[in-house]
Amino acid sequence: MLFRAVRAGIAVVFAGVALVRGEADAPSTVTIPNDHPLIFYHGRWDSSPGTWWTGSGFKLNVQGLSSLSLNLGNHTTQPLVCVGVSVNYGEFVTVNLTEGRNSIPLSGLTSSSISNSKAGKGNTVVRINSWGWQNNRVNLESLELNEGAELLPFTPSKLAFQFIGDSLSAGQYLPQGVDQAWPFLTGETFKAEHNIQAQPGIALTDIVSYGNEHGMSFEFFRTEDDGYFYTTDHNFTTPWDFKRDDPSPDVVVMYLGANDSGNNITESSFVQTYLGFLKNVRNIYRTQPFLIFTPWGWPQPDGTVSYYYPDAFQEILDSRRILGDHNTFLVNTTGWVTYEDVFPDNMHPTVAGHQKIAGLFETWLKNFGVKPQQEWSTQIRS
Ligand SMILES: *[C@@H]1O[C@H](CO)[C@@H](O)[C@H](O)[C@H]1NC(C)=O
Ligand SMILES: *[C@@H]1O[C@H](CO)[C@@H](O)[C@H](O)[C@H]1NC(C)=O
Ligand SMILES: *[C@@H]1O[C@H](CO)[C@@H](O)[C@H](O)[C@H]1NC(C)=O
Ligand SMILES: *[C@@H]1O[C@H](CO)[C@@H](O)[C@H](O)[C@H]1NC(C)=O
Ligand SMILES: *[C@@H]1O[C@H](CO)[C@@H](O)[C@H](O)[C@H]1NC(C)=O
Ligand SMILES: *[C@@H]1O[C@H](CO)[C@@H](O)[C@H](O)[C@H]1NC(C)=O
Repeated sequence: MLFRAVRAGIAVVFAGVALVRGEADAPSTVTIPNDHPLIFYHGRWDSSPGTWWTGSGFKLNVQGLSSLSLNLGNHTTQPLVCVGVSVNYGEFVTVNLTEGRNSIPLSGLTSSSISNSKAGKGNTVVRINSWGWQNNRVNLESLELNEGAELLPFTPSKLAFQFIGDSLSAGQYLPQGVDQAWPFLTGETFKAEHNIQAQPGIALTDIVSYGNEHGMSFEFFRTEDDGYFYTTDHNFTTPWDFKRDDPSPDVVVMYLGANDSGNNITESSFVQTYLGFLKNVRNIYRTQPFLIFTPWGWPQPDGTVSYYYPDAFQEILDSRRILGDHNTFLVNTTGWVTYEDVFPDNMHPTVAGHQKIAGLFETWLKNFGVKPQQEWSTQIRS
């Protein structure tokens, strides 16, 4: 299946953009440039600045907020990009953004403290992320807040996760993409920061796979996801500066191999590639535990599950131990996913399936000793 075919057909068309933005009839607003130090960016952004990789976005903590608009530049996905918006840690709701000015519906996302904010007191936390595994580019030029609103520092959680995966982690086929996928759900339950480098169809091995020009052993170290290949305005990758991951992760979780298997990469070759990848990732994250998922496999209608690389993961773990790395662990997901948990036509977890996986992993993490935060570090005061 060519999952990327749809993207290749998308021409970048610049629709007629109004040149004058500050309309006279609009109430006066405060414009915040994209380089304002109190915008808390997460995920991977290029210098435009624009998002790559599903789940990338930003968080705001605003005093006296009653209106918020985003002005987006011409590197934004045409004709639109889907983002999740969460106000005061409520549910993520999809908003479609386009190049130009976008009003973010705060009042529609009801919360009692919004009325307090309107009265000029209290703070509001707004979280916005691009949830698509493709067509996920938000090119942020500036924010517009109501007059009198003021950005406050957003204090990130004391716990942060880094996830690395393929379609099974990216939330492919889910109505709200990664925002409904197990890595994101785990991050939310633990009240943690989380970056998710996950791309449908990607192999770990650096091969062309299901529309991906590169494998994760290359892509993880780049700012841009594999979608770069299908763009005309940014058809290249740049190194990712891991110092920009602030806070840097406390726990690194990897779930890879489905598409190596799908491309007939041999087990021994896969093991060698994984070991090389772990060495490179360990150079970045020297002290963090690495949690490596074994495959939950492809569940079949007859109740069996087809597993791939049966001996690879134990071998990878043993090899790391021999190298002196006692901070790498397997998460044995055997039996986690059954036919009831997946869409029959593509064997990927459903919304409920992802919730189940997140629940199992959360239990695993607690047993491992990772504790959920009691509260978000940036709290809401009414
Ligand atoms: C895109 O936006 C930039 C910055 O506003 C502008 O310089 C450039 O001409 C625009 N490009 C196109 C093709 O509209
Ligand atoms: C967003 O756009 C998609 C089409 O790409 C559409 O299916 C969906 O209904 C839109 N959602 C909202 C909330 O506007
Ligand atoms: C991007 O560049 C590659 C060559 O490096 C080319 O094969 C590909 O077609 C380009 N993509 C677009 C959308 O132009
Ligand atoms: C490869 O990746 C695609 C998208 O992630 C997935 O649907 C497909 O089942 C995978 N193929 C194999 C053979 O694992
Ligand atoms: C992998 O091997 C199987 C069985 O030999 C074959 O049917 C399939 O086409 C191969 N897939 C790829 C991507 O080479
Ligand atoms: C994972 O658990 C299953 C079932 O308990 C077991 O058969 C398998 O050997 C385990 N895999 C690893 C790598 O430990």
